[in-house]
Amino acid sequence: MALWGGRFSSEPDEAMRLLNDSLPFDKRMYKQDVAGSIAYTYALHEAGIVSAEEAETLRTGLQSVLAEMESDKFEFLPTDEDIHTAVERRLTEIVGVLGGKLHTGRSRNDQVATDFRMWVRDANEALQKALVRLMRVLVAQSEYHTHTIMPGYTHVQPAQPIVAGHWLMSYFEMFYRDFIRLVDSADLSLRVLALGSGALAGTPLSYDRKALLGRLDGIPSDNSLDAVADRDFVADMLYICAMIGVHLSRLGEDIVWYSNPNFGYITLDDRYSTGSSIMPQKRNADPMELARGKAGRLIGNLTGFLTTLKGLPSGYNKDLQEDKEALFDSFDTLMMILPVVTAIIETLKLNPDKMRAALTEDMLATDMADYLVAKGMPFREAHHIVGVVVRDASERGIGLTKVPLDELKALSALFDADVLEWLTFEKSVSRRSNFGGTAPDAVLKQIEIAESWLESQAWAFNNP
Ligand code: ARG
Repeated sequence: MALWGGRFSSEPDEAMRLLNDSLPFDKRMYKQDVAGSIAYTYALHEAGIVSAEEAETLRTGLQSVLAEMESDKFEFLPTDEDIHTAVERRLTEIVGVLGGKLHTGRSRNDQVATDFRMWVRDANEALQKALVRLMRVLVAQSEYHTHTIMPGYTHVQPAQPIVAGHWLMSYFEMFYRDFIRLVDSADLSLRVLALGSGALAGTPLSYDRKALLGRLDGIPSDNSLDAVADRDFVADMLYICAMIGVHLSRLGEDIVWYSNPNFGYITLDDRYSTGSSIMPQKRNADPMELARGKAGRLIGNLTGFLTTLKGLPSGYNKDLQEDKEALFDSFDTLMMILPVVTAIIETLKLNPDKMRAALTEDMLATDMADYLVAKGMPFREAHHIVGVVVRDASERGIGLTKVPLDELKALSALFDADVLEWLTFEKSVSRRSNFGGTAPDAVLKQIEIAESWLESQAWAFNNP
């Protein structure tokens, strides 16, 4: 019989049970569920519902339930609707009728809100760790390539030369922001716990909620009606996952293009490349295409769940049960992709010669304008004059540095022989040495900042 079977004269229909039950997916919150109940036994004693001895018996029983779950010995029954009912049912088998006291003053509504938040806290930490590991290899690769010059693009058109370390560090920045999002949300929305909110109206039991939730590393929610139905923390987490997915998809796009033989800037290690069943020459970057493709489902999980939340009346509604599969999927998806992308970056081979060969002198046009500016010309005028030089050079099919000096001088008396020294790819990147720019020194500075931050994140490498 269902836990709530008293007021019904027949058992739930089988098909409806399949729809209603969440056990198949929420059993992965068993640790949090048991931890929440163990903490709750202290409150029950404080409120005079169970003696100290009974509370201890409940805790021992809950520990046995946990041990059974942990060793895969726990036998789930078809009547176990969700993880909360499964734990309580088994506890009662172990400790007898006393088990029936555990749920006093509590509802699955405040219980699930608490369990899931605690689960999300762990997931948050796991994601932080995976991001730190990815960031570390991005920094390591960047360090090798502070002097490797490659084309930088805007609109996928050749724009200005940059160093490859600058390109890689741009992804470090994206994942760093994601990391901060995780840290902030752990601070902001994952500490507040609902336990003690009852079904919606609060609890009639008198105990110190602050002490209860302190045992779970949290603080009490302020409003019971809000607390049981607050899934903002799920939406926050789904957003962060989607954002990580978006960043991975952009990295995927770059890597797919740069590994195309027409670019040839990078080569993926054999372990992370795939071949074709028909074309023997193929060497595809499938995992990075998947990293790009998975962003779709991560965004889908976010928009799907926001749609579920939208317009829900106050209080708990069963719609909220949709929170778990969405987030489990986003989390599992990222935990599958992130380590692979990390290994890909770690083993990525950059091909400086190919990058060099792709540099064209038109990418120095801005530098030519900067040259005139350095000699006192207003930038707008310089831009126009260099535009004329670029058009002329491109019509003649020659590089900017091949336009004869007397022709340049005819356009502006400020042109001199030193323009040739000015117009090299090395000088172009080196001139952008202000903080945040692509000059090797500036990139090294970025890397130093990143490295000292990584040192503070040693925890992420401690255990596997
Ligand atoms: N399995 C439910 C969920 O995930 C637990 C809460 C059930 N509460 C209820 N009143 N039916 O949301």
